[in-house]
Amino acid sequence: MNISKRIDNMKFSEIRKFIPFADEAKERGIKVHHLNIGQPDIKTPEEFFHAINNFKEKTLKYENSHGIKELISSFIKYYKSININLDKDDILITHGASEGILFALLTICDYGDEIILPEPYYTNYNNMAKMAGVTIKSFRTYREDGFHLKNKEDILKNITPRTKAMLICNPGNPTGVVYTEEEVRLLCDIAKEKDLFIIVDEVYREFVYGTEKFTSFMHMENVSDRVILVDSISKRYSACGARIGMLVCRNKIVSNEFMKLSQTRLSVSSIDQIGAASLIDVTPQYLIDVNKEYEKRRDVLYEGLISIPGVSCEKPSGAFYIIVKLPVKNADHFTKWLLTDFNLNNKTVMITPAAGFYATEGLGLDEVRLSYCIDREDLKESVEILRRALEEYKKIFD
Ligand SMILES: Cc1ncc(COP(=O)(O)O)c(C=O)c1O
Repeated sequence: MNISKRIDNMKFSEIRKFIPFADEAKERGIKVHHLNIGQPDIKTPEEFFHAINNFKEKTLKYENSHGIKELISSFIKYYKSININLDKDDILITHGASEGILFALLTICDYGDEIILPEPYYTNYNNMAKMAGVTIKSFRTYREDGFHLKNKEDILKNITPRTKAMLICNPGNPTGVVYTEEEVRLLCDIAKEKDLFIIVDEVYREFVYGTEKFTSFMHMENVSDRVILVDSISKRYSACGARIGMLVCRNKIVSNEFMKLSQTRLSVSSIDQIGAASLIDVTPQYLIDVNKEYEKRRDVLYEGLISIPGVSCEKPSGAFYIIVKLPVKNADHFTKWLLTDFNLNNKTVMITPAAGFYATEGLGLDEVRLSYCIDREDLKESVEILRRALEEYKKIFD
């Protein structure tokens, strides 16, 4: 008996591979600060739990494959508040953005088709593409440029007759880039010129800092039939465990085809949809406060990091991640060593080597991705741990 070539071709999560070492460190009594994952510590709004506590049905039924009416109406209201006008058939409720990305790929791509995307990128896109039999062609963006797009030619070079779509994450994980309106326009123009779909992952839409302005691809009229928006409540309302996301598409042919996939998995959790529908009642101040908090965390982490000798990074404008170049040759080795061999007053940090976010072999070997989902005091402490760890590491391995 053999397993499939498809599954064999997929990889285990780069983000999770160091968890056993972190668990062992914890068993030895070491406190581990998690800078490795995008799990916010922010409280999910109370409205979510109240709605679930008020659920009085005696049977947990399958719901409509499309999603419950109340949730779809609540999302229509939410999008209206950000100047995106939709009707109910434009929205499909999914098991998080993750299912939405897979549905989008399965709907528009044939086996052997290609998608283009800027690297570094969210590493789970790799397995999603492999599940759909799609090849990723990436074009580079650079830390020194804050991961903004380089130029049109660089992007065009990667487009072949098999390219079906571009997949864009804005604001970016792992880069923290927020594309300017000009960049969004450029991508839209390319999509139009080359007849491509644009799958756009905007799960971090609310997390944009300072004077930076967010431009949604949904605001671009010349591509309204090509944009497939992937969205989620996971980060916006710190509700990762609810597993509620959505696909938004104004192209009726495409959105109608999504239904074949959603009907095959029957429905999304009824209880979580009920909780999610109540989030429309959350005061707008919630998101304003959360955004301010992340901005302060970003500043603490960024200022701390650039004060460490040999460390370089650009200040991210959005999401809650930063790519950092470390004065080490192999970030994988350093990450493991932090968990197995180092502690500062019985504390250490867990980080994510960045190589897994690049498609090109050999890139990102001396880089890590850090998230700033933990509180400011812990972030300050984490910076100190990293500073001392790098000094120690240099003494041993240089
Ligand atoms: C860029 C990006 N897209 C999608 C997801 C998955 O979101 P969800 O929890 O809605 O499946 C994540 C999770 O970290 C992410 O960073």
